[in-house]
Amino acid sequence: MNRILPAAMVLAMLTACNQKPTTDKSIENLTAKVQELKDKYRPGLGDFMVGIQLHHSKLWFAGINNNWKLAEYEIGEIKESFEDIKNVETDRPEVKTIDMIQPPLDSLAGAITQKNEVAFRQQFELLTATCNKCHRANKFEFNVITIPTEPPVYNQDFKPHSLMPHS
Ligand code: HEC
Repeated sequence: MNRILPAAMVLAMLTACNQKPTTDKSIENLTAKVQELKDKYRPGLGDFMVGIQLHHSKLWFAGINNNWKLAEYEIGEIKESFEDIKNVETDRPEVKTIDMIQPPLDSLAGAITQKNEVAFRQQFELLTATCNKCHRANKFEFNVITIPTEPPVYNQDFKPHSLMPHS
C-alpha cells in the first residue's frame, strides 16, 4: 500500500507533465489509469490477514515476556491493518462485520498499558476468539487462529531491552 500509492502518484505527475494542454479527456484517462494501478497492486483481504497473523503471534510473545513496548507496537500494527482494510477493501462484504474486533483490541491495549500480564493473557484469548468469530460469521470457519506455541520467527528477541548499554 505505502509503496504503491506514491508510485501511482509519481506516474500520474509524469503523465500530467507530458500532456500539453490539460483537457478533460486527459484528466479522465489519467484518473482511470491511477484507478487501474491501485486495483492492480492493491493488497487483498487475505494479504492483510497474513500480516495481522504475524503481528498477532509476535504480540503474544511480547506480552508473555513483559516486553510492553514491543506489545504496544505490535497491537498498533494490528489496529492499523484493520483500519487499512476498512479503507481499502470497500468492495468486500465481509468488512461490514469487522467492527467486532474493536472492543477486544481496546481491552487488550488496556492490559498492555497497565503492564498486566494476567489481563494480557485473558484479553489475548478474547481477541483470538473474536478473530475466529469473524471467520465463522463470514463462512471462513475452516480458518482457525490459535494461541501461538512457538515464536513466529527465529531472528527476533522478544525479551525487553532498554536503551542503556549492556542490559
Ligand atoms: C471481517 C472479520 C474478520 C476479522 C475480525 C478477522 N478476520 Fe481473518 N479473515 C477474514 C476473512 C473474510 C478472511 C478470508 C480472506 C480472503 O479472502 O483471503 C480471513 C482470512 C484470514 C487468514 C488466512 C490468510 C491466509 O491466506 O492464510 C488469517 C491467517 C487470518 N484471517 C487471521 C486473522 C487474525 C489473526 C485475526 C484477529 C486478530 C483476524 N483474522 C480477524 C475475516 C476476518
